[in-house]
Amino acid sequence: MTEIRNIVVLTGAGISAESGIATFRGPGGLWEGHRVEDVCTPEALARDPVLVHRFYDERRAALARVAPNAAHVALARLDAEWPGGLLIVTQNVDDLHERAGAKRPIHMHGELKSALCAHCGDRRAWEAALPPATECGRCGLPALRPDIVFFGEIPYRMDEIDTAIADCDLFVSIGTSGAVYPAAGFVRTARHWGAHTLEMNLDPSEGSLFFDETRLGRAGELVPAWVNAVLAG
Ligand code: APR
Repeated sequence: MTEIRNIVVLTGAGISAESGIATFRGPGGLWEGHRVEDVCTPEALARDPVLVHRFYDERRAALARVAPNAAHVALARLDAEWPGGLLIVTQNVDDLHERAGAKRPIHMHGELKSALCAHCGDRRAWEAALPPATECGRCGLPALRPDIVFFGEIPYRMDEIDTAIADCDLFVSIGTSGAVYPAAGFVRTARHWGAHTLEMNLDPSEGSLFFDETRLGRAGELVPAWVNAVLAG
């Protein structure tokens, strides 16, 4: 392996599982009792805004009852101490990376604690419940919705992510099933540009064969051990 300077870390629901947040593709394929297509598509929002808004209100409120785990804490330490470049990209809409101390993770699939205006595109921090037809503070229209990237919508900040992946020496994927693109394709882009690729997951992901190295186990154990090793050189 060439010397490591720039690292990109991609996280998914598995990193928050030990904090008590349900993953998406658990047994039964339900997310908190709902089919993903009933709460995570533009069509679902148009069909039943009350259900969709309430679903994310509950998820947002639940954040107060969970805390970062050892994996989030270890990545925050890496963020603080790694002398090279580090980009943490998360598919998660929780705030556990930030609460552990990570400086500026990219939330490519949006954030529970943010509201998006479907009319003017304004995004702003949001802590409370968000009923349908709440007025936007910028354009005034009753168009605020959860700031969640639904299936069929374009993830945030893809240009920055693509640039960081092209420049990285090490790409690390933690706690994601590799079922959802574009994130599932990051490993192949990283390989294309010559990065070493490492996966840490409870089970082999759908893209496991694309990684140079796979470590199977719980993020709360694997990630702190990996961070210790990387910082020790
Ligand atoms: N440690 C490590 N990995 C774990 C743990 C754990 N403690 N618990 C579960 N996992 C793994 C599972 O084995 C699974 O491969 O985490 C992965 C979680 O996969 P998903 O539930 O599919 O979550 P994710 O990959 O983040 O989903 C991607 O799908 O619905 C969309 O937008 C949503 O961001 C989400 C995207």
